[in-house]
Amino acid sequence: MATKQVSHSRPARRPTSRTLLEILRHCTRRLAAARLHYGHGTDNAGDDAAALVFHVLGLEGELTERDLARRPAQQDQLAIDALVTRRIKERVPAVYLTHRIWFCGLPMYVDERALIPRSPIAELIEARFQPWVDPAKVRRILDVGTGSGCIAIACALAFPKAKVDAVDISPDALDVARINRKAYGLTRRLRLVESDYFSALQGPPYDIIVSNPPYVGTSEFKGLPAEYAHEPEGALRAGRDGMDAVKVLLREALRFLTPQGILVVEVGNTETTVRRQFRNWPFIWLEFERGGGGVFLLSAADLQKMAKDL
Ligand SMILES: C[S@@+](CC[C@H](N)C(=O)[O-])C[C@H]1O[C@@H](n2cnc3c(N)ncnc32)[C@H](O)[C@@H]1O
Repeated sequence: MATKQVSHSRPARRPTSRTLLEILRHCTRRLAAARLHYGHGTDNAGDDAAALVFHVLGLEGELTERDLARRPAQQDQLAIDALVTRRIKERVPAVYLTHRIWFCGLPMYVDERALIPRSPIAELIEARFQPWVDPAKVRRILDVGTGSGCIAIACALAFPKAKVDAVDISPDALDVARINRKAYGLTRRLRLVESDYFSALQGPPYDIIVSNPPYVGTSEFKGLPAEYAHEPEGALRAGRDGMDAVKVLLREALRFLTPQGILVVEVGNTETTVRRQFRNWPFIWLEFERGGGGVFLLSAADLQKMAKDL
């Protein structure tokens, strides 16, 4: 007599077949319940959910009602669930799961070798640094601590006649910047240089030196949410009070600026320390329509005047 084969192993759990709208709502609920930290390109659970879902399904732009009513394949639903689980359990910022973020309206590739682009300096680049420079006269730009290359690439596109140099001490970050430079076809006009601040640079001065350097002090670093642990430590930490990089920029930028040049530096929450330690300096603290702050501007003339204080 033939015996009937009975399997005692449980079948793998599969999500029930959901519509895209149900998937988006379900992911948003899971993320919201996990009380995550946002601030790496998205600022709420719904946007994070959309980023992960769009990534897996290869979606772009606005969704129609018809899109929302469709039922993605089970394997895609499983892939979405897996990404949401990683976002929650490992606290990986969504951008490091999708590898894509927009900066100045430009898609950029990023992975854990480079900081996730989010600098408010984007707004200034979109305004072509006006009214602080005459864009028609800008020939050379330097980005110090370029990371993914986002600032340098956006500058190169905003100033099509300018040459851009971008330095970083991290070969890993420069590898990411190379990926983005290639995607934008800027290999000839954007030079990527491994350099400890200005050390590997010589040659003609720059009309604009822009930098989003590390500026997190020891105690602020210890209090950062778990998401930040996925970013390179060297992109965030700048000594005990967060001032190590800022001091180098204030001390050395003048030598690399044209007489009409400007220095623009993001210092985030370290603004208070900068104001306290450099009390008499004529910093212009910039304001941004889309939020964010802690960015100062100094002209070469002002740096020249203050050089005696250093
Ligand atoms: C806050 S991240 C900014 C990255 C990018 N500019 C952005 O806005 O997304 C700072 C960058 O400075 C780089 N950096 C740190 N120390 C440096 C140094 N001594 N010389 C040059 N770059 C440095 C880090 O590797 C990191 O890529």
